[in-house]
Amino acid sequence: MPVYKIVVIPGDGTGPEVTREALKVMDAACRKHNVGFETVEYDFGGERYLRTGEILADSALEEIRGMDAVLLGAVGHPRVKPGILEKGLLLRLRFELDLYINLRPVQLYPGVECPLRDKRPEDVDFVVVRENTEGLYAGSGGFLRRGTPHEVAIQTSVNTRFGVERCLRFAFGFCRDRNKKKTLTLCGKTNVLTYAFDLWERAFHEIGEKDYPDVKRDYAHVDAICMWMVKNPEWFDVIVTDNMFGDIITDLGAMIQGGMGIAAGGNINPEGVSMFEPIGGSAPKYTGRNVINPLAAVCAAAMMFRNLGEETVAADIESAVRQVTGTRLKSLAAGHMGYGTSEVGDLVAAAV
Ligand code: IPM
Ligand code: MN
Repeated sequence: MPVYKIVVIPGDGTGPEVTREALKVMDAACRKHNVGFETVEYDFGGERYLRTGEILADSALEEIRGMDAVLLGAVGHPRVKPGILEKGLLLRLRFELDLYINLRPVQLYPGVECPLRDKRPEDVDFVVVRENTEGLYAGSGGFLRRGTPHEVAIQTSVNTRFGVERCLRFAFGFCRDRNKKKTLTLCGKTNVLTYAFDLWERAFHEIGEKDYPDVKRDYAHVDAICMWMVKNPEWFDVIVTDNMFGDIITDLGAMIQGGMGIAAGGNINPEGVSMFEPIGGSAPKYTGRNVINPLAAVCAAAMMFRNLGEETVAADIESAVRQVTGTRLKSLAAGHMGYGTSEVGDLVAAAV
């Protein structure tokens, strides 16, 4: 029996509540399929930072490198200035573990109300592959004459051929394996960002033509894709894009799949340790009230097992989620599910 070593970082706000339910479901699914896992929990997050000043211990980072995967709850604390924990924990993990793919499925589950009129689960079913280590997130830039009337602030988007190429190759391969429409859409802004997306576009066609001729190539500007995602989400299969555009369009994606209550993502290093998370925030106003929806964390756990090679565990968790959204939940919204956080976890675990 394989025994996976999973790092759990429940984090801030509702993070601990949703990770608890994810672990409950993981337990049920792994028992059923004779898969083992051990967890190591770290209390990194706002509380620990306020208490000790530490955000992510170097020793923990080293330990994580020897584990199989990370499950993260949420980052963000009302008493910590925005940016500190995001940079010190989430972004640092992405950079230090070289989690160069941010994989975000946009999938409407049965029974879930879609804000788009007349769209059904088969219409909203695509995946965004977001580059996760470069672009505007690389931290390149600075101030000149800060705080004066002549202040200059520069923030540069970093796009390396290496970084773009490995992201594109992952996206092409993912699209091929997914085997749906076999269409990869590059989302960019070639009409204005004529350097960055020129590189992306050239690499996209060169790599696609040479190594993935069976995958159709399509292109959309980022502004237009926001329009099409709302009007014709059924057009998309896999979308690949840079870090910033990926950040923005996946929030839109989360809304068309029914909200943050169910949106999960993976920060993936295909050659190393990967990290999975519900993509919503720490939701301070719902903290500790047993009202937050844990399904996004549960879906993140399913993605984690898929990444570990345990497809049956992943598929089982997802079909249990489908059963629960399709037959039990009134809504995905916090406080309106018709059940509490822990009951939703129980329902999914029972469905497994
Ligand atoms: C996300 C989040 C992060 C990002 C923040 C919290 C730094 O919005 O995972 O999408 O911008 O990548
Ligand atoms: Mn985001």
